[in-house]
Amino acid sequence: MLSIALSKGRILDDTLPLLKAAGIVASEDPESSRKLIIPTSHAGVRLIIVRATDVPTYVQYGAADVGVVGHDVLLEHGGAGLYQPLDLGVGRCRMVVATRRGFDWHGSLQRGGRVRVATKYVRIAREHFGAKGMHVDVIKLYGSMELAPLTGLADVIVDLVSSGNTLLANDLVEVETIMPISSRLVVNPAALKLKRAVVQPLLASLAAAVERTHGSAPQRSAA
Ligand code: PRP
Repeated sequence: MLSIALSKGRILDDTLPLLKAAGIVASEDPESSRKLIIPTSHAGVRLIIVRATDVPTYVQYGAADVGVVGHDVLLEHGGAGLYQPLDLGVGRCRMVVATRRGFDWHGSLQRGGRVRVATKYVRIAREHFGAKGMHVDVIKLYGSMELAPLTGLADVIVDLVSSGNTLLANDLVEVETIMPISSRLVVNPAALKLKRAVVQPLLASLAAAVERTHGSAPQRSAA
């Protein structure tokens, strides 16, 4: 049995059509079902539904063989013990630095004062500001980061932006783009060897589905 770890939300919506193109259809809608293990049309493949931040952990420990996870989550996890063969090109968004409209970010950079950054993405934030030679105080949050600059908890946030509607609705503006983000396929290295007969065709079908969807060859690394 091959287990594929997925998380509910945007990534799931974008991934199910790719899985379908690879011949794997969930027996019920994972978004509305309360089941956490969902059989598929492929007798040897099941979906397991986990929190987005837990996908790398399930795959790392082999509790899932394969997972679909945002590059943001993967960078925070560190990627240890995970083979990352394919960028699925779904769940596209970007990691940004944002602040209150009217906050003089560039002036504050020039003055060189210590900046407070609120984020769920502590590692990405530290690396981004570290690479710029900036010392920042990072405040870890678990959601609703947009509130931090509005309440004085922090000067800026590091967060994901997709449509930009959340920033707009909260009167925040993007002041730096850190990196584009999309979702990756991750594979447990032992599963890649021991379940090669199922994993390799799945990788090939998904790569072909990505190519058909996006019109160009997806980024792959040799397995
Ligand atoms: C993300 C992110 C922003 C929002 C941006 O949150 O943290 O709040 O989406 O999307 P937009 O640019 O299209 O408005 P998500 O909904 O994933 O929930 P989270 O707060 O649990 O991360």
